[in-house]
Amino acid sequence: MARFDAAFWGALDQFSASGLLRTASARPLGMLDFSSNDYLGLARHPALQARAAEWGARFGTGAGASRLVTGTLDLHQQVEGKIAQAKRTEAALLFASGWQANASVLASLLRFGKPALVFTDWLIHASLHHACRAAGAAQIRFRHNDMAHLDELLAAHEGAPGMRFIVTESVFSMDGDQADFCALHALAQRYNAFLYLDEAHATGMLGPGGMGLSATIPGGADLAMGTFSKALGGFGAYVAGSRALCDWLINRASGFIHTTALPPTVLGAIDAALDLVPDMAAERARVKTHAARLRAALAALGIDTGGSTTQIVPAIVGTERAAMRLSAHLREQGILAVGIRPPTVPAGTSRLRLAMSAAHSEADIERLVAALASAWPGLACAA
Ligand SMILES: Cc1ncc(COP(=O)(O)O)c(C=O)c1O
Repeated sequence: MARFDAAFWGALDQFSASGLLRTASARPLGMLDFSSNDYLGLARHPALQARAAEWGARFGTGAGASRLVTGTLDLHQQVEGKIAQAKRTEAALLFASGWQANASVLASLLRFGKPALVFTDWLIHASLHHACRAAGAAQIRFRHNDMAHLDELLAAHEGAPGMRFIVTESVFSMDGDQADFCALHALAQRYNAFLYLDEAHATGMLGPGGMGLSATIPGGADLAMGTFSKALGGFGAYVAGSRALCDWLINRASGFIHTTALPPTVLGAIDAALDLVPDMAAERARVKTHAARLRAALAALGIDTGGSTTQIVPAIVGTERAAMRLSAHLREQGILAVGIRPPTVPAGTSRLRLAMSAAHSEADIERLVAALASAWPGLACAA
């Protein structure tokens, strides 16, 4: 036993006793997967695999250094150009992950705008909370997707000094509901606030060419961030915005400056996905149909799906126990549907977060629906 293990074991025992112990188990193979974010089924697409392999063979498996030292290859600039074009912005920058992009970019911006007034949706991602803490910025939180409340808070702080930021997501990861981008844009204009939009779950799925809601009003978000790790089937992240903003981030975002550049293999997969996604309207429609079918089935079972309108369908069952038992029941039937508990979601709203994919067949959705229907009535009392 190492010197500090007694303290770690003590903390782990407490997590366990409160039913909140988390483990990083390997994904079981051969199960019908409703928990991964591979919404367009691109993670195993031959075009992505081929370009990743080709770029790896031609340019190597590592970039060798950070972007500002020797890590920048033509490939990075080529991919950033493609992203900017798809997002209808002047420029874009690549990051190693969505978590890293948010944690670093938002923190840099909040320090720049000091004393920043940062208006955040109640349900923003952990990486955005991390950025606010890192910048020492107190959040002014608006009720989830409630534009009237945001308006009220912006108005209440009208005379206060400092740069204003509105920070939210276009599709919420645990709820599958969407922000009203036009209303956000209007409020950002009215109060001269910087609109920071996380499009992690919208990229690939919503907006023009499936490249996110921000592209519906070019320049409508001052910064749109998204990932390649979900619908685009790869890894890494981007931010898109004006040339001045991106050049400033190159000078100020620690998560861009002090980390090794994305390797050619990863860039190859991103590049191939960016070529495919605009023409995947049929796949997006198929995912939409799957989600609507599942929401109807859950409603018939009396299970709340919140405000879901997208590929993410939460089956909100209430207690941790109910969520974990339902998840276990599905697992016995070969279906992977991981239970999500506090602190990831608010207490009393534990759920299965069910993610639809174009790789699912109609028969897969029917299998899930049948498994839920057989399990839920017996478990409802544990909810
Ligand atoms: C809303 C949101 N933002 C950012 C991230 C982080 O993205 P990545 O997985 O690429 O680090 C996630 C993924 O969990 C997310 O759901």
